[in-house]
Amino acid sequence: MSKIEIKLSDIPEGKNMTFKWRGKPLFVRHRTEKEIATEAAVSLTELRDPQHDKDRVISPSWVIVLGVCTHLGCVPIANAGEYGGYYCPCHGSHYDASGRIRKGPAPLNLEVPYYEFPDDNTVIVG
Ligand code: FES
Repeated sequence: MSKIEIKLSDIPEGKNMTFKWRGKPLFVRHRTEKEIATEAAVSLTELRDPQHDKDRVISPSWVIVLGVCTHLGCVPIANAGEYGGYYCPCHGSHYDASGRIRKGPAPLNLEVPYYEFPDDNTVIVG
């Protein structure tokens, strides 16, 4: 199936859920206020693959990214690593709670797929 519809009320604040989309893991993360503030304050000069948080999300509460490490494709672990976002155990890449690469061998941020919110409780990815 090329699109996936996800009910947002199933994902509590502070949790990341993994779905399968086009044969790949898809992360949907319901961020806390603290995570939103932390990621909004990150300076581009700190980043290997410089992207503002606001350019990676539509709604600050929701981070939607592919769960595919940009190093060699392992599936990162949510809410782990030194930046509180994701940690890839294969070779030690640390991503923040915007899915941006912060440390380790991965060259790029986690990919943001096309998605939209048809209403407050639904996201459609694809
Ligand atoms: Fe993730 Fe190598 S595949 S760090």
